[in-house]
Amino acid sequence: MSQTPYPRVASLKTAAAFRAHLAQSNIPLQFDDTVAASGALAQPLEIDGVRVGNRFCILPMEGWDGTSSGEPTGLTRRRWRNFGISGAKLIWGGEAVAVRHDGRANPNQLMLTPATQTSIAGLRDELIGAHRERFGSNADGDLFVGLQITHSGRFARPDVWDQSAPLAACHHPILDRRFPNGVRVLTDEELDRLVEDYVGAARLAYDSGYQFVDAKACHGYLGHEMLGAKTRPGRYGGSLENRMRFITQVIQGIQSAVPGLGVVVRVSIFDMVPHRKSADGVGVPEQVSGDEPAFGLMTDEDMDHALGDGRTLLRHLERLGVKWICTTAGSPYYNPHIQRPAFFPPLDGYAPPEDPLRGVARQIDATARLKAEFPNLVFVGSAYSYLQEWLPNVGQYYVRNGHTDFVGLGRVVLSYPDLPADVLSGRTLRRQAICRTFSDCTTGPRLGMVSGCYPLDPFYEARPEAERVRTVRVKGR
Ligand SMILES: Cc1cc2nc3c(=O)[nH]c(=O)nc-3n(C[C@H](O)[C@H](O)[C@H](O)COP(=O)(O)O)c2cc1C
Repeated sequence: MSQTPYPRVASLKTAAAFRAHLAQSNIPLQFDDTVAASGALAQPLEIDGVRVGNRFCILPMEGWDGTSSGEPTGLTRRRWRNFGISGAKLIWGGEAVAVRHDGRANPNQLMLTPATQTSIAGLRDELIGAHRERFGSNADGDLFVGLQITHSGRFARPDVWDQSAPLAACHHPILDRRFPNGVRVLTDEELDRLVEDYVGAARLAYDSGYQFVDAKACHGYLGHEMLGAKTRPGRYGGSLENRMRFITQVIQGIQSAVPGLGVVVRVSIFDMVPHRKSADGVGVPEQVSGDEPAFGLMTDEDMDHALGDGRTLLRHLERLGVKWICTTAGSPYYNPHIQRPAFFPPLDGYAPPEDPLRGVARQIDATARLKAEFPNLVFVGSAYSYLQEWLPNVGQYYVRNGHTDFVGLGRVVLSYPDLPADVLSGRTLRRQAICRTFSDCTTGPRLGMVSGCYPLDPFYEARPEAERVRTVRVKGR
């Protein structure tokens, strides 16, 4: 069990205690002392004919629980139904769905092809059905539902759960060492063909009733790695203009082939160097030369500098007609503490090198800076789960002050799916359901098992995997 020296959020029971801890630790995070059921989080947002009923967004979260042919199982459908009963009105993609087999991050990742389309369409139906059952037969009129499409690139493991089959954007001197069997870099011609696969998947998503697709560009997967491919020669590498070519072609390809479909982008808007576990279990940065590929690399906590690449990308996306941006950071594989701040590390992670609240504050700060600079873009922020009891208070503050448009919810939805509904109806939060960031949802898949909230969701608690995941957390593998 981690010896993390930071106070648990659950122990900061009053606004005064939470504020004092933030001040003492010099963590720049604001919050409202009280949350109003009909306050900022309950306000609809209307833009370009799209009406979204409130300011909660369900972030994409996969469960490593599809079939080998890329179709959902009962576990997948249950998760999507939970998204539907959450009360959130924006569903940012549901989960990462590969556009073809070699782009799957695991052999159980969903895949969108003509053969799987009916069942992927069924997920949306399932979600909308659950939403109507819970909130009324017309409740989906202000629900905005999209699908996240992806190729996992360097982190592809399409055939065997613990065997990498990396197809990278470029070589990376530090990350390549983590792939002892080598890394193959995709050729320009292969990337050209891959664009067509994205467009094909987007067409299927549109035919399935999804209102938008997210051309995923985050977490070290291909769309993100392309943005940092400084050392790659040719049309897709080198200058930032070249590095944006892949996502540009995906977006323009979809816009011209499927004009009725929205295209949005989830992007790791800043990054840090890869971290590794030190002898005492705490994460430390790898030694770098400074020439490694990266997009929005942060050094010395200089957020303004780190967002330079992101600003160029957002200006470009705005020109392409992309309006909706979901900000996230880094990668769960090489710097999980910035991507999903947690008290307990996952199996392949490390004890947090900073108070996880600092990681939350960093992502919120990045989003606020960009919202101020790009007021016409709609922003969804991420990494709120670690706030636990204080999530609604922090979320309300940042939405109320126009620093983000939506509060994105990840892990907390696995343990407490209808937290938004409770907040919006003024009910007291169910403390026993609040995610405490045990990271079992990440450790499960790292052991080749399905993901879910093993400690807090009674459904997963009762599954055979629960004991093994708990033992690994407490005692190590
Ligand atoms: C089990 C699990 C699965 C995830 N799957 C995806 C995914 O498919 N696509 C994606 O963009 N992010 C994925 N994420 C990242 C989350 O969307 C989110 O960015 C992250 O958990 C931080 O938000 P939180 O603090 O609310 O959990 C996943 C996270 C977890 C824990």
